Amino acid sequence: MTVPVRYELLARSTESQARRGRVYTPHGVIETPVFMPVGTQATVKTMAPWELEELDAKIILSNTYHLHLRPGEEIVRQAGGLHGFMNWQRPVLTDSGGFQVFSLASLRKITDEGVAFKSHIDGSPRFFSPETVMGIENALGADIIMQFDECPPYPADRAYLETSLERTLAWAKRCKDAHARPEAQALFGIVQGGEHLDLRRRAVESLVELDLPGYAIGGLSVGEPKPLMYDILAYTTPLLPADKPRYLMGVGAPDDLFEGVERGIDMFDCVLPTRIARNGTVFTSTGKRVLKHARYKDDFLPLDENCTCRVCRTFTRAYIRHLLKAEEILGVRLTSYHNVHFLLQLMEKIRLSIQENRFLAFKREFYQTYGYTGQ
Ligand code: GUN
Ligand code: ZN
Repeated sequence: MTVPVRYELLARSTESQARRGRVYTPHGVIETPVFMPVGTQATVKTMAPWELEELDAKIILSNTYHLHLRPGEEIVRQAGGLHGFMNWQRPVLTDSGGFQVFSLASLRKITDEGVAFKSHIDGSPRFFSPETVMGIENALGADIIMQFDECPPYPADRAYLETSLERTLAWAKRCKDAHARPEAQALFGIVQGGEHLDLRRRAVESLVELDLPGYAIGGLSVGEPKPLMYDILAYTTPLLPADKPRYLMGVGAPDDLFEGVERGIDMFDCVLPTRIARNGTVFTSTGKRVLKHARYKDDFLPLDENCTCRVCRTFTRAYIRHLLKAEEILGVRLTSYHNVHFLLQLMEKIRLSIQENRFLAFKREFYQTYGYTGQ
């Protein structure tokens, strides 16, 4: 059987686990490490696909949970899958709902069979199992599809984490068996296990037996201290096969990108750039800037003096602050565009630094300018 997704290693940092590679997918090549903007409801909020192309986003993420509830996967399938529906011809990844069902839905009841819950939109009763989720992800047609998993909260009892992990591992096998289009869509497994390293190891060993085309690390950035997340990553990532992509789910603050890459992660996604943009906060090379502060009302500099994006070449802080204060739609479009550009550019610089074997020096330099301390 032809494999829909293949990883090619291009360069390794000699001073850390950082690696520079490529992921080949049916809709194109992704240079890694990569940041994936989040398009929960088949749109990266406020951004048209041509804007994402202009920023050279290589892959975006969308959500099974939301698209199943609205408009329903059958509509998306009829439109030619997410690529046709959104008119985005580059790679797409869908998350399985294993996270949203726990964070958004109400009245959840988890059994080995699956999860019964009520829709957060109209309260209607629903049921997700590995088989129903694979049916939805097959209809949505993304290049990379995530297994159905349980993302346990932090903190959780060890006994609960063990039970939950065994369920997630059984669900991985059921997802593989139920996957109807393995030649066209790559199913990734998700490593859970909470903070327990032996459970993380158990998860890797069990998932690797399924010989999936890629693996994700889940259950992180759920309220645990950052140093704990970094320790779990340092332990878990090197256990994963070196010839497959490694994806850290739901993580993407600038420092997390560096710390993840340093520990061998290839793929990241996060709502952060678009979410903070909508409340008027922008990333800059010298740290975050909150545009609603009064000091920007007559500040006619660009959002970030070192940014090359179209927004920074065109508009001032004072103008964008005005749009945000007046609740003009253009304001959040401009801050979203700039923030996505910032993270995509940061990843581009990270890739170059790995290629030139100066990743840690680049990290130190970025932290100093950005104002991060520690690590
Ligand atoms: N997004 C962030 N964390 C997770 C996780 O643990 N599982 C899934 N399915 N999605 C996530
Ligand atoms: Zn900019």
